[in-house]
Amino acid sequence: MVSRLLAFFLIPTALFAQVKDAAARADSVLALMTLEELVGQTNQYNGFWNATGPMPEGNDWLEARVKALKNGLVGSVLNVSGVNEVRALQKVVVEETRLGIPLIFGLDVIHGYRSLSPIPLAEASSWDLEAIEASAHAAALEATSDGINWTFAPMVDISRDPRWGRVMEGAGEDPYLGSRIAEARVRGFQGKDLADPSTLAACLKHFSGYGFPLAGRDYATTDFSAHTLYNWILPPFEAGVRAGAATVMTAFSAANGIPSTLDSAQLWGELRGRMGFDGVVVSDWGSIAETIAHGHAKDLREAARLSLAAGCDVDMESDAYLRYGLELARSNRSDSLRFRESARRILELKFKLGLMDDPYLYCKQKSLPDVRPQAYEMAVKSTVLLKNKGILPLNPSLRVGLTGPFAADKNGVLGNWRVSAKDQSAQSLAEATEASWLFAPSAPHSIGPEAFATELTLNSTDFSGNDRALKALRSQQVLVLAIGEHGYESGEGRSRASLRISLVQQDLVRKAFKTGKPVVLVVYAGRPLILEPWMQDGAAAILWAWQPGSMGGSAVADVLKGLREPYGRLPMTFVRSEGQIPLHYDGFSSGRPGPKTEVFWSHYTDESNTPAFPFGFGLSYTSFDYKNLRVQPSNTGWTATLTLSNTGTRAGSEVVQLYSSRLGNGQLYPTKALKGFQRVTLEPGEVRDVQLILTREALRQRDGLGKSHPFERGTLGITLGPNSSEGLTWTTDLP
Ligand code: NOJ
Repeated sequence: MVSRLLAFFLIPTALFAQVKDAAARADSVLALMTLEELVGQTNQYNGFWNATGPMPEGNDWLEARVKALKNGLVGSVLNVSGVNEVRALQKVVVEETRLGIPLIFGLDVIHGYRSLSPIPLAEASSWDLEAIEASAHAAALEATSDGINWTFAPMVDISRDPRWGRVMEGAGEDPYLGSRIAEARVRGFQGKDLADPSTLAACLKHFSGYGFPLAGRDYATTDFSAHTLYNWILPPFEAGVRAGAATVMTAFSAANGIPSTLDSAQLWGELRGRMGFDGVVVSDWGSIAETIAHGHAKDLREAARLSLAAGCDVDMESDAYLRYGLELARSNRSDSLRFRESARRILELKFKLGLMDDPYLYCKQKSLPDVRPQAYEMAVKSTVLLKNKGILPLNPSLRVGLTGPFAADKNGVLGNWRVSAKDQSAQSLAEATEASWLFAPSAPHSIGPEAFATELTLNSTDFSGNDRALKALRSQQVLVLAIGEHGYESGEGRSRASLRISLVQQDLVRKAFKTGKPVVLVVYAGRPLILEPWMQDGAAAILWAWQPGSMGGSAVADVLKGLREPYGRLPMTFVRSEGQIPLHYDGFSSGRPGPKTEVFWSHYTDESNTPAFPFGFGLSYTSFDYKNLRVQPSNTGWTATLTLSNTGTRAGSEVVQLYSSRLGNGQLYPTKALKGFQRVTLEPGEVRDVQLILTREALRQRDGLGKSHPFERGTLGITLGPNSSEGLTWTTDLP
């Protein structure tokens, strides 16, 4: 179908072809547009069915939206998927609007599309950038074959607060790991060419600081220092921009007295200015309108004007630009120029995506590879072994009994973001092990509906299923308990004040311990939860499976049986109690470090300062020995080498992590900061030298005013170890 843009103005395609550059091509289209059509490009509506946020009230909105669509006043949509649906909507704009400019179709393709990978935080546990990139690419393959060409991912928000439900969507607490994962995900979604119909435009979100809500409550005001902003929050955005991310989303939250969607110092100064981002900035769902509830803008007109001035190009679901844009553009020349600039960026993206040349590019039948093997692989690689008293891998001769509310669960284990996956479509652990283990259902963890937009109701009354399960498993020799939280207990709008395992599950674990059999806890979760000391002490092994997605059943079973190794390392600190939050490995020393015998040091009277499990932690089925760290300086940095041996009886892989410490350069530095890592696989008894490089550039730090400083004098420490709490350290005094 020829676009009306071409047909109506009889512009020869050759003309477009001559002007190869997307920006210039966008300008040539801009020249044809009315002011109203320019504004229309900045308007993004949710589709007419699935919603991932609050929809307008009343009945007249639908008619108004259809009218806007036909008048060319919608530039992109979200939550419309399926080749037929996408084609039908695209046909309306192509054939019925004056210029026929195609729509972009956006969706939250966060951890897979139909076949779900583990949640992003789980993927981050793999520390395997190639696998993460491949997983994003697999998601892109499935989504683009269903008409989608823009994903609202990756979320690159650093967070230190496991109460915040959206930690499931990020890469954890560390800016170095977070940056590498941001790059990998952008590469995976976007590939080498956005116009390739098997790639998606990526979106770095949420700019910025959304991962620091006060008290972990989603959408709450955020609070962080300028130092935290420059050195923790912004680096993953910068890495994603460098990797070529086509779009960036603003945050719902407010910081420093201003909602992020209106924060021109950040959006212009940091994002477009310092980082050089020249793509499209989209608001979050309704975040322009929500600046009124924040108490910042007095009405929608002002909200529209301020967010436009701040550099927000696309209005997702606030209806602010559409309602007030034309009036603003007519009455104020700078607003009209801003709309022109935003429309140009959006058109440019449409050119880059290939939509201006073929609006139906993403609606063609493609033969699609089965990406489930990849989802399986990623689920294996996301598992983190936290404790093992020698019971794992399970000896095949043991009679294993399986129970717990997530053992046969096919829904909660899919995770939170799954707009296009079928409910109840995960392969469960019980299904994967039915030929070899005995399964008995325990009391349910939740009751009632399980849905994206509804609060989950926990079972707090009927625990009787637990006794029945344990009775049914009485002749088994080992118990595997699948416990944790449901995919709809983490994610957007799902903060938790208590991170404990629910009472019904505590009851099950207590009773299982009483049987005297070894108990293996497999924890399904969207965040670091707290396992109380009695639970940790009583368990023979603890495997963190996160929410492993569609293929989690066989992935977790294969790890428990030893067919695969537990591969992951924690991307977030696990706290002992909620009162320690926000505990993170890369904190600062206080002026009163300890421990001391008197009270005058920085500590709690009722809790330790140390985590339950540190950042970077994860056991293996074998053991490794770290020896002989030596460091060679060069002009550009330092090369650290150590001798690693596999001292166990199985082959296995270790993630060797490099941390730096810096003292005495006239700034505060974190006591430790991850600067590199490498996975090394060794046969039993094998010994190998492992080399990691620390560059001088990596030691730079921005001060509270944003100025970047080299590390030129003081004491530098380089630690190579298996996690952020252990390792061999070398120190030197500079210069
Ligand atoms: C709100 C979320 O914060 C954002 O991440 C998401 O992309 C949009 N809703 C669209 O669903």
